[in-house]
Order: sequence, then structure tokens, then C-alpha cells
Amino acid sequence: MDFIGSKRAVDEGSAYVAGGVNSGYRTGLRPNPLVFTSAHGCRLTDIDGNELIDYFLGMGPMILGHSPHSVIEAAKNQLDVSLLVAGQTPLEYEAARLVTELVPSAELVRFASSGSEAVQVAFRIARAATKRMKIIKFEGHYHGWFDNVLWSVAPDIAMAGDPLKPIPVAGTEGQEPGDNLVVLPWNDAEVLEEYLKSGEIAGIIMEPIMFNTGGVLPRAGYLERVRELCDKYGTLLIFDEVITGFRVAPGGAQARLKVTPDLTILGKALANGFAVAAIVGRREFMDLVGTGRVMHGGTYNTQAISMAATVATLKEIASGSTHLAIDKTGTLLIEGLREEFTKAGIMHEVVGFPAVFNVRFDLHGPTDYRSAMKANRERYMNFSFEMLKRGVRILPRGTWFLSSAHEIKDIESTLGIVREVLNAGI
Ligand SMILES: Cc1ncc(COP(=O)(O)O)c(C=O)c1O
Repeated sequence: MDFIGSKRAVDEGSAYVAGGVNSGYRTGLRPNPLVFTSAHGCRLTDIDGNELIDYFLGMGPMILGHSPHSVIEAAKNQLDVSLLVAGQTPLEYEAARLVTELVPSAELVRFASSGSEAVQVAFRIARAATKRMKIIKFEGHYHGWFDNVLWSVAPDIAMAGDPLKPIPVAGTEGQEPGDNLVVLPWNDAEVLEEYLKSGEIAGIIMEPIMFNTGGVLPRAGYLERVRELCDKYGTLLIFDEVITGFRVAPGGAQARLKVTPDLTILGKALANGFAVAAIVGRREFMDLVGTGRVMHGGTYNTQAISMAATVATLKEIASGSTHLAIDKTGTLLIEGLREEFTKAGIMHEVVGFPAVFNVRFDLHGPTDYRSAMKANRERYMNFSFEMLKRGVRILPRGTWFLSSAHEIKDIESTLGIVREVLNAGI
């Protein structure tokens, strides 16, 4: 397979679109950014006519696959009813009710249009609730692209220096994170307590399972300890479940790992590709937004087509059928990958759950960002590129997303291609 047509289209499009792409995360992919003409089920078709089995899934949202009938029908039907009313529709109450039924921490819901902005509401609530300013985030965790949190996301370890010193990402260079952002290594409750003792921390935000970089599970007892520490020091615990939400379990990582945060950020799989995110949490904190003491706005919040799609997506997830299907195919895929890598003599680790997991080479058992970065990432990137050339699109960073549209035959085709790539050598 080649991707020449995509390259040409992106080059030509660069005359009108900065860099030819509309998100900074769509550049830098080998061999070049791709241009797609359609997407159905678990397959993408690109402008070169290549058909690819897709494990990007829009970077996570498409948990029911591309163009699932129920979601598309709901969105199409709503197009004839209303689009944007600068008011409420019954759909958003139904969507919110479904979220509260699925997600343990969700006593109240506020919808937003992207995960990045929902994170900002969480910070505002934590600060208003505690009358403190500082937020703790962890190295290697991603919480959207806004200045106040785009620090120490994926620093180059060779250059990174002190793990407690926030490291800028492109665009925040030359700024100071200020005293309001503390960056710590994740999975270390002792270091965390040292900082909480100051009594100055409004909130702690984390990916409860680190999937944006590295793929690391929390150590046994870590999340429980963080929960205890937050209660002890009057700090709000914020889980960013934009990736893990509805994937690790219908109720997210918090349901599976049985630790309930004060606030949760949701997005991605919440609406199967429509621009919907949410902040949800304990009534006493969400009431700060409810009463207007904490401002949260957005012209496009609860746009009716997106809400119709959200209701349709959540109904499918709540029915249990989505996870039933993915548990079967995802388990087959994870076990198949382990078998193929073992047969090929490649030291590897597959970490996660059927609907979202991470694969790394040549490293076992990292516990935080710095240790995870010791994996053989170049070898994995080569592997992902060889997979792409044979028709399987996986993220070069190691994350795999699965949908209920992936069938056993797609998993078998994928594993066949893995075998082919490994036989050819990586
Ligand atoms: C954990 C996490 N939080 C927040 C975000 C930002 O969400 P959005 O891209 O919808 O702004 C992302 C996006 O990938 C994410 O993975």
C-alpha cells in the first residue's frame, strides 16, 4: 500500500490550511498525514483507495465503530427537529440521566464541547470550592491543550531534568506555569502527601490509568490512598476519564477500579464521534456551577444533534451489548498479540482492557512516565508503520482502541498481518 494521494492532497491543502492539518496531533505520522474518503464499521477508506482496519477510532471516540446505525439515525432524525436553540431540549436531560446511571461519581452533569474545556471547569470548581489556587498534575498525563495544564505531557527524558519541574510543550515555551501548577511523578503517594501537607492544593487531576503516554496502571492501593489523602487535606480529586470513560468499563476506570473521585471529565466515547464532553461530580461541587457561582458557558454546549447522538450512544453502552462484544474480540486480540510477539521472541507487555490497551516492547512493569519511556518506542513505531503498510492502522504510541464494530474476522485479519510483519522482522 502507498499513501501518495494523501500526501499530495495534504500538500495541496496546505495552501489553505496551516500545515495541511487541523490538529497539531495529526502531524508527524509516518509516512504522512492521511486523507480519508469514508469510514464504516471498523474500516477506513483513504484517498488512495486503501482500506484500513482502524484502531485509532478517531483517537478513541468511536466505541460503536464508524457510522453505527443507531447513532446516525438519531442524529439524522434530530436534523429535522432542531439544531441549536440557545436553550434546553429534553435530549440533554435524558443524556445526563444516562451518564448519572453509568458513572459512579456523576451526581450532576454539565455538558461541554471538548475535553480540554471541561478540564478548565474542573479547575475553576476546585478553586472556588477550596479557596485555594494550586492544581497538581502528573508527568506524562494529558489534560487538553490549554496553557495552564499543557506542561510535562511527554517531555524528552534525556532533556527533562528534575521531574518536579514543569516542562513546557510547544507554545508554552517562554511562559512560566506559575505557582498554580505543580507537576509530580504519578503512582507515588508519599511525594504526593508532601505537597498536600501544605494545605494549598485545590485539586489533583490525573488519568486514572495512564494511556496518553506509556500505558501504565495505578499501583495496587495507589488510587485508594490518593482518595484518602484528598479527604484528609481537603483537596478535590479529579479523574480525567476522557480516554478511560465508557471504555475501561461502562462506568469508566472509576467503576472498574472502585475509587470515586469528586469530579470527572468525560468526552470521546461519550458521543461516538460527536463533539461532546462533560464535567460530572458530587452534587456539592457541581452546585457551584448550578448556582452560577462558578461560570461555565459555551454556545455549542448540548447542540441537539450531538445530544441525540449522545443518548443513542449511551443507550447502547448501558444495554451491555457494546462491552459484551468488545470483551470477546478485545480479549482475543490481546491474547493473539501476546502469542505472536512471544513466538517472534519479542519481549513485550500488553496493558489495559479489551476496549483500550497499550502495547510496548522490551520493557516490563513501568510505574510512571519516566520508567515507561524506557520501552523500545522506536521499534514499536516501526512495527506500527509496517502494520499500516499492510492495512492496519494502529497508533505509533502503543494505544489500541477497539469498537463493537470489530468482528472476530477483523481480529483474525489483524493478527494475520501482525504475523506477516513479525516474520518480515522489525
Ligand atoms: C485524557 C484526556 N484529557 C483531555 C483531552 C482533551 O480532550 P479534547 O481533545 O476533546 O479537548 C484528551 C484528548 O485526547 C485526553 O486524552
